[in-house]
Amino acid sequence: MVEPRPLVIAVDGPAASGKGTLARRLAEYFGLRHLDTGSLYRAVGLKLLKNNNDPANGSLAEAAARDLQENDLTDPSLREDTTAKAASFVAAQPRVRAVLLAYQRAFAQQLPGAVLDGRDIGTVVCPDATAKIYLDASVEVRAARRAKELQVGATESIESRVLSDMIERDARDSQRDVAPLKIADDACVIDTTGLGPDGVFERAQAFVSSRRN
Ligand code: DC
Repeated sequence: MVEPRPLVIAVDGPAASGKGTLARRLAEYFGLRHLDTGSLYRAVGLKLLKNNNDPANGSLAEAAARDLQENDLTDPSLREDTTAKAASFVAAQPRVRAVLLAYQRAFAQQLPGAVLDGRDIGTVVCPDATAKIYLDASVEVRAARRAKELQVGATESIESRVLSDMIERDARDSQRDVAPLKIADDACVIDTTGLGPDGVFERAQAFVSSRRN
């Protein structure tokens, strides 16, 4: 008898490229669980901020990662920009990534499978994923989306701050030594700059269905 294999979908890409929206829709469509892996790094960063600790301190960040509880993942402060910045520092710590890796892999392997979104899902966490999708968009469009999300889209100065923060964070995510953001060789790349959520979903769903067969 052939052992059933989980259906694993990896969705990677930079901040505000549309990963979360797509991952949730794919999970619903294919009947899978969803893990927003960025929330793990955000939760570690938030723990450090709450204790007035430096997010760039590797030992403290590792201890915070080991101490992570389910309810840390639902804190509304996870979505704040200060938390995102702290997360990008803790995400560059190899020991933090090692602690979070086992949790992510175990999540992906439970039947019937899962959709995981992040930066290194197709390259490191689930290199054997059934389907890998890489979303991209211009940094200006992503910054405008994030500013809107923060409900501060009204002023130009705030938009430009979000843009410069995003350029800085993109650089940290893609230039770090451990598990940097990069496109997996076998990923389907979708540019969401001029494409709405429905268009992105249709392409991704067609790709996953083709990989499944
Ligand atoms: O996607 P996000 O903005 O919630 O991610 C927060 C930070 O965590 C960001 O700096 C990238 C990092 N991250 C990562 O390094 N690896 C992942 N799999 C997910 C997120």
